[in-house]
Formats: sequence, structure tokens, C-alpha cells
Amino acid sequence: MTAPTGSTVRGGRLDGRLIGIGVTGSIAAYKAADLVRRLADEGADVVVLMTPSATRFVGELTFAALTRHPVETDVGGLLPDQRIGHIVVADSVDAIVVAPATAHWLASMATGLAGDAVTAACLATKAPVIVAPAMDGEMYAHPATRANVARLRDGFGYRIVEPESGPLASGQSGQGRLAETPAIVEAVIATISASPIREPDAAARPPLVAATQDADLDGRHVVVTAGGTAEPIDPVRFIGNRSTGKMGVALVAAAIGRGARVTLVAGHVSVPLPTDPAVQVVAAETTAQMDRAVRDAIGDADALIMAAAVADFRPRRSAATKLTRDERLQLDLEPTEDILAGVAESLVAGERAAAERPILVGFAAETGSLDRAADKLRRKGVDLLVANDVAEAGSGFGTDTNRVVILAADGSRDELPLLSKREVAERILDRVAGALDARDTAAQTEAVTQESRA
Ligand code: CTP
Repeated sequence: MTAPTGSTVRGGRLDGRLIGIGVTGSIAAYKAADLVRRLADEGADVVVLMTPSATRFVGELTFAALTRHPVETDVGGLLPDQRIGHIVVADSVDAIVVAPATAHWLASMATGLAGDAVTAACLATKAPVIVAPAMDGEMYAHPATRANVARLRDGFGYRIVEPESGPLASGQSGQGRLAETPAIVEAVIATISASPIREPDAAARPPLVAATQDADLDGRHVVVTAGGTAEPIDPVRFIGNRSTGKMGVALVAAAIGRGARVTLVAGHVSVPLPTDPAVQVVAAETTAQMDRAVRDAIGDADALIMAAAVADFRPRRSAATKLTRDERLQLDLEPTEDILAGVAESLVAGERAAAERPILVGFAAETGSLDRAADKLRRKGVDLLVANDVAEAGSGFGTDTNRVVILAADGSRDELPLLSKREVAERILDRVAGALDARDTAAQTEAVTQESRA
């Protein structure tokens, strides 16, 4: 996958800095993976600390792979050289940002109860602390939480990045949704930009873990569609589009790099297809063929990523022999099946338990405003929608780069900078891996609840 966080961009606003991210047990924990990346984009080296409940939402392997540093999940955890992990973090970071911070964590911190690695590191550090709460709106409004936030801000001098108002994981809405990643990054930069780098000596910082393969999709089956569909007019001509398949192929490479087994449903592509044994390639020329191939592959899939540019119309009839120029040609077009919306619908209606449903990712190639994208996300019933303006320079068909906005069903909107298609693929898979972790955790919690009721 991408470079370790310690060896990222030069010239970023966090060049040479070490930032500790404290992750606590909120449904928004998966968003911390994106925070790691954004801080790395600014040049920071990042190390992650987690409370035990955070590890129920996102596996520590995800953060170890993204940061290349050991993840501190235990107050008593020792590094391989016997130093105490959270103390090394506390002594070397330029800032600690706790995101998401739960009501429980705010209370622990306000009273100095150092029962987890995040609180312990905050108590032990002289570096500034930034806190981004995330919880249910009523919880955030409760006088206990308000008092704890006030104590952290006014008593300890911590910077609070207020949560946003909007729809919440509970289904209700209110002020409690984790602030958007760019706002948290800006808060970190604003907090430390005037202070010198705290610990430039690499030996005093947390060690790097061996460059392991990022295996956060190990054992998962990911279905990716790529390229454009081609609808025949006659045996030699078709209605097609400009899609080359680059984005889909980048997604496949990224997914196998993270341990997934991949089915690539390939339409009309103009880039070489992967030959890795972890990838099964299924050719699907027309929309109807792609629809069938996707439905065949989706049975045991953990994610479907529809990167293909699917034709919206096809000739009602295709001529059996090549049409000649002297004939007048009038095409009678009919709409094609909407593959993604169809899959989403049949999953909702079907037998597959919610806990086993694949994560659905759509793409929306727009020209001009991306305002229609949020509507498309709802209309298609997908978990994530990756929208880009294909008319923008460096973005869209045939380019090696892409500037996308990732919209999620929870209402969040993540605007990424111009990145290579591979990097965009990694960002999308960060979200998919996080969503799968959350799905599995929810299923386990449900099973335990059922068991205790029985
Ligand atoms: N898609 C699909 N089947 C179709 C058309 C699109 O599965 N017949 C998928 C695409 O692969 C993409 C997403 O739906 O992941 C959005 O595609 P887009 O062409 O932007 O959406 P449309 O449904 O065509 O919407 P509109 O033309 O109204 O913008």
C-alpha cells in the first residue's frame, strides 16, 4: 500500500512532526484511519493509541499497517526494547489528538482515571492535546459531558474540536457527529505550528514495525467492476464510453495487496488486466452480461465496488449483419438495468442477514457540481459513493490521478486532494475495511446479546 506515515510528503505543514492519535470506542473509530492518512499527507509521522473498546470497532492491525508503528492498546504494554509504549509516545509526540472521543473517555480524562493507554498518554505528556468528541446528541448535551468537556478545555488547556450536527449512528440527529477530518487536521496544525519539533531523534520515538503486508482485507472477497460496457449496434459497432478501467484495476491491485480475494468483472478496458492468482477475471462486455456476472459473484462477497462506467441505454435490437452507409440509421434505445441499485434492492429483500451483507460502493462520474451525488447515494442504496468531476483536469477517464469526494450513508462527506488512482483506491479500501470491521463487531455484539437473553 502507500508509504509508511514516517516517510511521507516533504514540504507538508506537519513535516518532521510526530502526532499521536488516541482512538476510543465509538462507531466513528473507523474515521481515525482517514485521519492518519490526512496527517501523513501533511508530512506527519503518526502513532496510534487505542482504548480496549476502540479495538472492538477497528482492528489494531489496520492502524499498525497505516502508521508502521506498534499500536498502544494496553497501559502495561512494553515495546520490544522493554520501554513502556505509551510513555515513549507521551515523551516524543508533538501533539495527541483524541478522535473520536467518547463520553466515557471524556469522563475518565476529566478525573484522571488512567485505565487505558489513551488517557495514560495524555496524563503523561507535556505535548498539547486536541479532543474531537463523537457521541449521541443527548449524551453530548448532558450536564456531565458538558462539565467534562469544560474541564478538559478550561482546566487542562485542551483544544476541543466540536462535533457537528446531523444524522447520528443511533438514527437520531443532534450535535454529536465527529467533526470532519480536515477540521481536525487544521486544529492540530493550528495548535503546534509555532512550537519546535519535540523529539527529532528517531531513536527516542516509537519504533517502526517490520514492513508487513497490510492485511486488513485478509479472507475477504471483494468484487470490483472496471471499464465501460459496450452495447452492440451491429457485429462491429457498439455504444461505449471513455472509461479505460484504470480506477477499477487500481482497486484490484490495492485489494489484493491488502489480502483480499478479488473477482474483477471487466467491461471494455484499455489497460492490462491483473494476472495475480488472487484475482478471478470475468469478462462482461454488455450491461446485461455485467449484471449477471456481478450477481453470480456477489453470493459470498464482502464488498462490491462498481467502478465500471455502465451504459444507461442500449439499442433495443442489434443488427445481425454489419450496417452499411447507404442505409439511414436511427437507433431505438432502451434503458439498461441499473446493476448497483438492483443488487442493493435484492440484498434488502433477500435472505442474507444484515450482518453478512456486502458493503456497496458506487462511483458517480459527474460534470460540474457534485450536488447530485448525495441524492444518487440514497437512490442507489449504497454505503459509499465516490464522486468525481470527470471534466476537471487530472480527474476522470484515462488520467492517472483523480480528485474524489467520498460520501457515506451516515451523511459524512470526505473531500480528498488530487491523488494517484492507486492512492484513491487505498482510501476507498480504508473505508471498506473499516465498515467491514464495524459490521462484524455489530454482528458479534448482537450474537452476545442474543445469547445472554436466551
Ligand atoms: N451503475 C450501474 N448500472 C447502471 C448505471 C450505473 O450499476 N445501469 C453504477 C455505476 O457503476 C456507478 C453508479 O451506478 O457505480 C453510478 O453511475 P452513474 O452513471 O453516475 O449513475 P446513473 O445511474 O447513470 O445516474 P445518472 O445517469 O442519473 O447520473
